[in-house]
Amino acid sequence: MLIKSTNRSDSKESDVTDEKIYLNRREIVKNMGFLGAGTLLSTSAAASVFDLFGDDTPPALFKQTNLEFTPDKPFAEELTPEEKTITHNNFYEFGAQKHQPAELAQGFKVDPWQLKISGEVEKPFTLDYDDLYSSFDLEERIYRLRCVEAWSMVVPWIGFSLADLVKKAKPTSKAKYLAFETLYDPKQMPGQRNRRLGGGIDYPYLEGLRMDEAMNPLAIMSVGLYGKTLPPQNGAPIRLVVPWKYGFKSIKSVVGIKFVEKQPPTTWNILAANEYGFYANVNPDVDHPRWSQASERRITTGGIFAQNRIATLPFNGYGDQVAGLYKGMNLRKLY
Ligand code: MTE
Repeated sequence: MLIKSTNRSDSKESDVTDEKIYLNRREIVKNMGFLGAGTLLSTSAAASVFDLFGDDTPPALFKQTNLEFTPDKPFAEELTPEEKTITHNNFYEFGAQKHQPAELAQGFKVDPWQLKISGEVEKPFTLDYDDLYSSFDLEERIYRLRCVEAWSMVVPWIGFSLADLVKKAKPTSKAKYLAFETLYDPKQMPGQRNRRLGGGIDYPYLEGLRMDEAMNPLAIMSVGLYGKTLPPQNGAPIRLVVPWKYGFKSIKSVVGIKFVEKQPPTTWNILAANEYGFYANVNPDVDHPRWSQASERRITTGGIFAQNRIATLPFNGYGDQVAGLYKGMNLRKLY
């Protein structure tokens, strides 16, 4: 892994742990899992895993912030305050309004959990709750998440490369796409019981990526943010983060990843195909039928009336790393 020493100056990372060394990871993870499940219920009380060890023992759950993936100089941005990232959410299983997931997901039980890797692979496997934190190298990466409703955030995610999971499964030559699925559990997810609350979606929530997109080093499976386990409203215990695509691709609370031959169906495309395509690459030149996609409101420290409107960048600013994936494709048609 390449650690650049430059261009971190503009990222305000004071809330993010700066240095971690590897200690007894499994122990830490266990403690973290316990804490995660218990304290996520109250966002303000959610303790950092690093609080467990006092000041002199910096624990090392994940590697140092991966500067290779943090926003570069021209786009160096202020982190969105944690409080805003965990209270302004889209998670329709817990209500279609932004404030609802933080309220309605508080009792969501994520341990035990099973994430099943299946389909066109030589080595299908299942990850349980502990495995999510210990089977792969966790890193912290600062990524922008840009939603179709034209707001965006800059979040320090903790996760591992989706590519590592793909390699472990050893896809067959027939595996062309990955089909992701969120938990279906109407008892726990009120939006799955009540169609109106759940925004009229037919659950489970589904998403998909092409194999080369899944292998791109920017795509991660995230298990935490701001040095803590993911709170339920942000997709505990594990969610996808694809920073060059509109936020709806970043499916939460994933229980299945199936390798398939054909492009899989995806929730928002099923609901409104003229508004939400399979690719969903952030593209300021292609308007949503009901609004422009040319600019976004960056959620920072300002109040709701703060004017943080900025121009949207193609591929959410990650064009250098991902534009090549779509060479020769008409991205106006394949939105
Ligand atoms: N995953 C599931 N299962 N259900 C959802 O409703 N919403 C998506 C995505 N993943 C959603 C989901 C949308 S529209 C966005 S913008 C992001 O999650 C929001 O992620 P955040 O709440 O962590 O910011």
